[in-house]
Amino acid sequence: MSLEELSLTDIREEAKKKLLGICGVYKICDGDANRICQGQSYGRALGFGGIGSGASFNNNILALKKLKLKMRLIGDHFETNTIYDFFGNKLSMPIMGASVAGVNSFGGEKVISEKEFCRAVVLGCKNAGTIGWRGDTYTYSIESSYGIDAIAEAQGFGVKIIKPREQDDIVEFIKKAEKANAIAVGIDIDGCGSYAMATHNKPVFKKNIEELKELVSATKLPFIVKGIMSIEDAICAKDAGAAAIVVSNHGGRVLDHTPGTAEVLPEIVAETKNEVRILVDGGIRTGYDVLKMLALGAEAVLVGRDLVRAAVGAGIEGVRIQMDYLQKTLAKAMNMTYCKNLSDIRSDVLY
Ligand SMILES: Cc1cc2nc3c(=O)[nH]c(=O)nc-3n(C[C@H](O)[C@H](O)[C@H](O)COP(=O)(O)O)c2cc1C
Repeated sequence: MSLEELSLTDIREEAKKKLLGICGVYKICDGDANRICQGQSYGRALGFGGIGSGASFNNNILALKKLKLKMRLIGDHFETNTIYDFFGNKLSMPIMGASVAGVNSFGGEKVISEKEFCRAVVLGCKNAGTIGWRGDTYTYSIESSYGIDAIAEAQGFGVKIIKPREQDDIVEFIKKAEKANAIAVGIDIDGCGSYAMATHNKPVFKKNIEELKELVSATKLPFIVKGIMSIEDAICAKDAGAAAIVVSNHGGRVLDHTPGTAEVLPEIVAETKNEVRILVDGGIRTGYDVLKMLALGAEAVLVGRDLVRAAVGAGIEGVRIQMDYLQKTLAKAMNMTYCKNLSDIRSDVLY
């Protein structure tokens, strides 16, 4: 495949071949029970789908689908601006690559190596003017921390999210991320429900406010708590000194039967806005979805599975093209709802 003439369709066709039997690269990636990634409740490994019945994964999509955008066109003409400031870094869009880790969930080394996957997300996002976040799984250790290596290669243009391991182990990862000049660090608090960690005897823990405070004060970098689905947890994370939270159900991979993230986002925003930065992920596939999440009060979003397909299909350039597509569709959505800048996006762009 020549990189010069690549389109998103080519990238997805290539990913479909490589992900045969793992992901159907469907037009709609929604965790529906009939998709080939689903079926964990009947004994299948978690793979690329959602936990159990897949309801949490599916609810992310359904919650977004329920929201409708209001066209507003009469007024002075303008060019839309999607520039976003993330902890002092000017990004081309309020959209970043989610902290997905563990190529074994989508075919393993024969599809793409962990190292190349991390490089594709971080460098592809950087080439699109935004940030790739990196995750953590049972194959990672302080010596083999593929995500941090990719962030170092990108001169620090990345965020490292660590599983809720033992406190000392988390701090070691934080120190390594600091050396790589990462923009921020954090933990996926919902990683205590990680299927991959549990099935490989890698202990993960719930964290209390004191433990969170200890992690916050272990670094000068902004500290992020990812995996917030309740007002209670949002308040605890804020009280512990988190600089940002990510409203997330881990793409529906840690607990069956949660609501979609777009359903819980507004109440979390109402309770904690202006006290902590609020980001969100789950089921976001286009800029139209991004606009909906921003209208509900998130300041930025993360994208998971679509970047996996882009990385598998065409590596760094695949991710750049996917992010570019997201930026362009966000600009289009803002343009047609009369939002010139991100600050113009209010709840009334939704019916
Ligand atoms: C295969 C796979 C692995 C993941 N690994 C991690 C991880 O290591 N750390 C983390 O914070 N989130 C992880 N996530 C969750 C994503 O960061 C993100 O919350 C989710 O993918 C967003 O939903 P989406 O895939 O529908 O966009 C993973 C998701 C998938 C699909």
